[in-house]
Amino acid sequence: MSDLSALPLREDLRGEIPYGAPQIDVSVCLNVNENPYPPSPSLISDVAAAVAAVTGRLNRYPDREATQLRADLAGYLERFENVDMSPAHVWAANGSNEVMHQLLQAFGGPGRSVLGFSPSYSMYPQYCRDTFTTYVTEPRDADFSLDPDVAVKAVRTHRPVITLLTSPNNPTGTALPIDTAEAVLSAAGEHGGLVVVDEAYAEFRRPGTPSALGLLDRHPNLIVTRTMSKAFAYAGARVGYLVASPAIVDAVRIVRLPYHLSAVTQAVASAATAHADELLAQVDALRAERDSTVSWLRSNGFTVADSDANFVLFGLFENRHEVWQALLDRGVLIRESGPVRWLRVSIGTADEMTAFKRALTDVTAGLDLTKGTVQA
Ligand SMILES: Cc1ncc(COP(=O)(O)O)c(C=O)c1O
Repeated sequence: MSDLSALPLREDLRGEIPYGAPQIDVSVCLNVNENPYPPSPSLISDVAAAVAAVTGRLNRYPDREATQLRADLAGYLERFENVDMSPAHVWAANGSNEVMHQLLQAFGGPGRSVLGFSPSYSMYPQYCRDTFTTYVTEPRDADFSLDPDVAVKAVRTHRPVITLLTSPNNPTGTALPIDTAEAVLSAAGEHGGLVVVDEAYAEFRRPGTPSALGLLDRHPNLIVTRTMSKAFAYAGARVGYLVASPAIVDAVRIVRLPYHLSAVTQAVASAATAHADELLAQVDALRAERDSTVSWLRSNGFTVADSDANFVLFGLFENRHEVWQALLDRGVLIRESGPVRWLRVSIGTADEMTAFKRALTDVTAGLDLTKGTVQA
């Protein structure tokens, strides 16, 4: 970081650093919950055609309302989540990060608070900081589940403008029972509060785990956020979206920058929705790889949080940084994230997971996993 002291930076931003995991060029990159599968040749060819079609009109601003993309995303949800959906309920932006930022711009602000349940996604405090919104947290249980009584009490105590429920939660992988979401929605409704269920990893959930999308009909204070970064293997395209009442979509439209979603992004995202079958088949493969990684870790003496996502939180390490560094020294990059004695690994291809397991076995060989230091 440069010396910023001479700049008229906002006082509350002094000492802050840009968010982000280390970007290190290694052969096995399992640190930011990306999908390891690159786009297929047929998707690449459809994307190229879609980009060519809009390139001839790049002298014009894009559709401010992303009409086609919102219709395509609504169609995807109707087909794969079995919900009735219209484009008026969907809003898209540059990643679900931007969706959340827009939500905080519309509903947060001085004197307002957002409630989250720790440990959770580390960007939440930053959305709040940027919008002068107070971020309050209450703890999850030891197994990272959320006690519905604790959640309801927290909502009644803090009266947040937005309660953030993350399902599956990052970095723990924990999904939220639908009854807990409903209890929180009802409690938030008592003071006119909104509830965001962040479903960035929803497509990876295990069978029998419902999405909060099914609650939209009954709870007008619900917002479900999703992303194309994970299941659609499209992190580089930067597309996220929310699903909510048309009134909430209209509120967000007030604060969005004009033409925030480029014509290229809209075209590239729409092209991918037509490949949902093929992309969700890859999600199935990743879910199987995740489940076998959980079993392998457990059978090798690690403590592992149940996961409904494309990553696994495991431990327990006396000095997780040593383990992280020793893995990196062997060409495997994972993430120091969440509670201090845990590490998070994203699910990669079968070959990448084999490399991860081999390196981890090497690094922790013969040690008491709750106390050990690592092999040099
Ligand atoms: C829980 C959660 N929400 C939202 C996001 C943001 O995803 P994106 O901005 O790529 O859509 C992430 C990214 O890792 C996440 O873990």
